[in-house]
Amino acid sequence: MGLTGMMGILSAAVAALVLPPAVLGLDNGLALTPPMGWLAWERFRCNTDCVNDPKNCISENLFYEMADRLVADGFLAAGYEYLNIDDCWLSRERDAHGRLQADPDRFPNGIKALADYVHSKGLKIGIYEDYGNYTCAGYPGILGYLETDAQTFADWDIDYVKLDGCYSHPKDMDRGYPEFGYYLNRTGRPMVYSCSWPVYQIYSGMTPDYASIVQHCNLWRNFDDIQDSWASVTSVIDYYGDQQAVLIPLAGPGHFNDPDMLIIGNFGLSFEQSKAQMALWSVMASPLLSSVDLRTIGADYRAILQNRAVIAVNQDPLGIQGKRIFKDKGIEIWARPITPVVGDFYSYAIVFFNRRVDGTPSQVSVTIQELGMLNPAGYKTEDLFAARTYGVLYPPTRLKVDVNPSGVVMVRCGAVCDLELIYNCRPRSR
Ligand code: GLA
Repeated sequence: MGLTGMMGILSAAVAALVLPPAVLGLDNGLALTPPMGWLAWERFRCNTDCVNDPKNCISENLFYEMADRLVADGFLAAGYEYLNIDDCWLSRERDAHGRLQADPDRFPNGIKALADYVHSKGLKIGIYEDYGNYTCAGYPGILGYLETDAQTFADWDIDYVKLDGCYSHPKDMDRGYPEFGYYLNRTGRPMVYSCSWPVYQIYSGMTPDYASIVQHCNLWRNFDDIQDSWASVTSVIDYYGDQQAVLIPLAGPGHFNDPDMLIIGNFGLSFEQSKAQMALWSVMASPLLSSVDLRTIGADYRAILQNRAVIAVNQDPLGIQGKRIFKDKGIEIWARPITPVVGDFYSYAIVFFNRRVDGTPSQVSVTIQELGMLNPAGYKTEDLFAARTYGVLYPPTRLKVDVNPSGVVMVRCGAVCDLELIYNCRPRSR
């Protein structure tokens, strides 16, 4: 063997010694259904002015208050269990041991005390960092400190980590995101791992290695940050509809695409538009991370966020991401296969989505088989926002719905088991 061959073997051996086995898959048992909770960013941003705006600045007080509201106002009972900190919680300096620390003025008791409080309320806690030199808002990033920072989060009893990607090279992410995930796993503390890995690569013109992303992350952002407007919500919906052939196969229990936060109850969406975001995020198997001021949200909007029937669609155990099956003249139909599965037949959640702005509802009329449902025993069908049931509908039956402008009608079609028609199906109640 020549010298060059030897050098090759040697450097491979050295690499094997110094590099963590980052190819180990993510197997943390978390996010078997899309995570639900509250996230500070969209509504509260990087407001650090606690002198002039103490109620709304990013401070421990804000998170203590939101934890209280999540529990007292029924959000936890509805499934919203994560209280997630976003950017701007950090001090500009690491401590004497190189560890991250919260801003001492705004978080005087530190993150561990907040985590203890959050856990005492039956909630879980999420935190934000960035695979780069800085977070997007300019606070210290994790580059150079991956192992220390993963351990710090575990020491604080963190349950969920969102790792952003500002101030780093998108090409490095293929190695860096798995590496940080490896260190998170190695702490032994299960933490949901939310990655911004693909979106930065897409922005830089790369094609993300989704096989690796799915293997190493529980969640990943694919597209733009959501903003407080209907235009932003519809741009997200269009992205996920247009890219569905690539994105749907990625989703499943433990690993989901993340179209970003729910903005229901803020300034930008009407009541109808809010129902539309809730319905579509549920059909897309998206995380349900509300970013709203829980102290002032209106009761109507709270009811949308807490709609149990819609949440049940989002949390369906199959974890299949729904699909846009029709789009014409401002009308879309989205369908998500859900349980129960009867013989070969899935049940479905269907969203009729009206993007038209003519000031009267649009009627959509379609047969059950045109929606892809062929169970001869039919589908028990009910509206999920209005108290309306349609009884059992069969494949040739025509379903007619009136959909409000920039709104939705969402129905659940539960496949019926009839042993005379379907071999060996097991009747199941909902
Ligand atoms: C990026 C992320 C947002 C938010 C901000 C914080 O833009 O995509 O979700 O975390 O950074 O600075």
